[in-house]
Amino acid sequence: IVGVIGAGAMGSGIAQVAASAGHSVFLFDAKEGAAANAVKKTEASLNKLVEKGKMSLEDVTALCSRITVIDSLSGFASADLIIEAVVEILEVKKEIFSALEKVVSTSCVLASNTSSLSVTSVAAACTNPERVIGLHFFNPAPLMPLVEVIPALQTKDGLAEDCKSLMQAWKKVPVIAKDTPGFIVNRVARPYYGESLKIVEEGIADMATVDAAMREKGGFKMGPFELMDLIGNDINYTVTETVWKQFYFDARFRPSLIQKKMVESGRLGRKTGMGYYDYSENAVKPEVKSDDDLSSEIVIRVLAMLINEAADALYYKIATAE
Ligand code: NAI
Repeated sequence: IVGVIGAGAMGSGIAQVAASAGHSVFLFDAKEGAAANAVKKTEASLNKLVEKGKMSLEDVTALCSRITVIDSLSGFASADLIIEAVVEILEVKKEIFSALEKVVSTSCVLASNTSSLSVTSVAAACTNPERVIGLHFFNPAPLMPLVEVIPALQTKDGLAEDCKSLMQAWKKVPVIAKDTPGFIVNRVARPYYGESLKIVEEGIADMATVDAAMREKGGFKMGPFELMDLIGNDINYTVTETVWKQFYFDARFRPSLIQKKMVESGRLGRKTGMGYYDYSENAVKPEVKSDDDLSSEIVIRVLAMLINEAADALYYKIATAE
């Protein structure tokens, strides 16, 4: 039995993944009606797959019937694993973990889907911190294969390996990561945004030109600014700030004032219709400066910083070699 706390973008996706692997899932959200709505949304999106002939109606019905909405933490009493996916605020997560311990059995594993907080500090809220671990899924959870498995300092030996096997059974690609700021992906990817923001700040190129260079010359699927608009500038800014603070304000992780202004103005990206780009219907696409030398300079600067960060990650062995 798997429990999921928080039925937002991540929690609803994780519940779907667990149910799809055949588990009974209990889903809880503090906001009334949110968990039930999430199940409805999941069902609606899976029904689209039925229309396309990619899933049978029976499978969709069976999957959704395995997800039970509960209205209090006590509903998690029989769970073997609980994955928390609530807001990215340490105190909130700590309170939840501490409250859960009073409800669940001593063998129940408590996992956090945090993207940037210290799993060790979440575990510290528990009287039995050996059972706490990070299980970091990516958005959207049903589609993205990677899961970072992050043992805390207190996590008991063997639990990371057990979680890794479980994630493989869920058809995911797990990687064990050290509990260091941003883990692997959110640390190694930071310069993709940071260096691009610097290029714009320094007046070397505008956003559309940076995006086009990274896509067309750099071979990335999305440019950094369109990607930040997709993730949500609030989320991206919070992760940047958290990683920077946790690295004792190391300048290489420093957030950008451009990013801060975007958040202050409510231009959060696609979800608000406006971010670095305008997503309204009649919006005019900004012009891209076509200058081959400039594009090369942009790609080299960003790639150099990404490689530097990846090398640092390897040096400190933040990922198991696989
Ligand atoms: P979200 O804002 O979509 O959903 C959070 C949900 O938690 C909301 O439905 C809210 O009502 C509920 N909630 C808040 N406090 C609660 C409490 N005390 N008890 C129960 N439910 C509570 O957030 P999202 O994007 O799903 O993120 C959740 C977690 O996953 C965060 O820790 C985030 O850093 C992490 N994450 C987010 C990714 C993303 O791309 N959005 C990717 C990977 C991890």
